[in-house]
Amino acid sequence: MNPMDIPEIQFSNENAFPIDQLKKYISLHMKTHGILRIRKLKLETIKAITAFKKNIGWHDFSYIGGNSPRTKLAPALYTASDFPPSGNISLHNELSYMSHWPSFLLFYCKKNADTGGETLLASNAEFTKKLSSKTKKLFQKKNILYTHTMPGKASFGQTWQQVFQTDSKVAVENFCLENQIKFQWTKFGSLRTFHHRTAFQQFSYSKFPIWFSQVDQWHDSTIAPGMQKIIKKFSPEKALPHQSFFQDGSLIPTSLIEEIQDTFSAIAIKIKLDAHDVLILNNEMIAHGRLPYQGERELLVSLG
Ligand SMILES: [Fe+2]
Repeated sequence: MNPMDIPEIQFSNENAFPIDQLKKYISLHMKTHGILRIRKLKLETIKAITAFKKNIGWHDFSYIGGNSPRTKLAPALYTASDFPPSGNISLHNELSYMSHWPSFLLFYCKKNADTGGETLLASNAEFTKKLSSKTKKLFQKKNILYTHTMPGKASFGQTWQQVFQTDSKVAVENFCLENQIKFQWTKFGSLRTFHHRTAFQQFSYSKFPIWFSQVDQWHDSTIAPGMQKIIKKFSPEKALPHQSFFQDGSLIPTSLIEEIQDTFSAIAIKIKLDAHDVLILNNEMIAHGRLPYQGERELLVSLG
């Protein structure tokens, strides 16, 4: 993928784009490129974003059970990430550790940081072709187990009440049962979930299975040993909030995680969104991430 190849259209209030035409345009590009940037589209209020989503026929997808810290602003509309600005958000596909995931993502930039904060993008098909056959075969054979440990009271990481957007244990259990998530309440009041997932998906747009995973993002090796110690101190279970293993529970060698990250780095592009940019992604075709930044940055996301 080349930044220059990202299809884009300019919008302006004086020259309103016929919404039916825009809807067709978005639909076409989600099937072909999997990405579309719309510039100068002022959607400054929650009401305006909600109306825009309705006009383009967006089907809302809730972030219940999602692991990223986000603030809910309206149904299926959130801050893109409340993760500290100094942190790097590695390339990933949204909710790939769930049994169901959003097909599309809509990012709206209200304000971008003066320094940093670029959006990382990579093609999943390109990544899959580039990953070594040996590693592909290994993940196809062994699959992935994601574990998520969430305290019942504010501590390090999000509480299970924040993640599942409810105080009801019954609602959490029902959600887990409906979404093929195994769960366990610990004696300390934490919730641990276990997601048995494949690393690849056969999507209709591809002739071969496509890498669709967040295995590297959840792996212990992405957190420095010193920081791991600090995090575990806050955890009654002495566990990291997110961990990934092979599905039989065995450890995934760090060398494999490095290979995944290096392969993504080799093909990733970065773009800087401007205020009033809308970026729409096909979540099954394009992985996304974020570089660290300084200053203020307001980016919203809607899942559809
Ligand atoms: Fe994301």
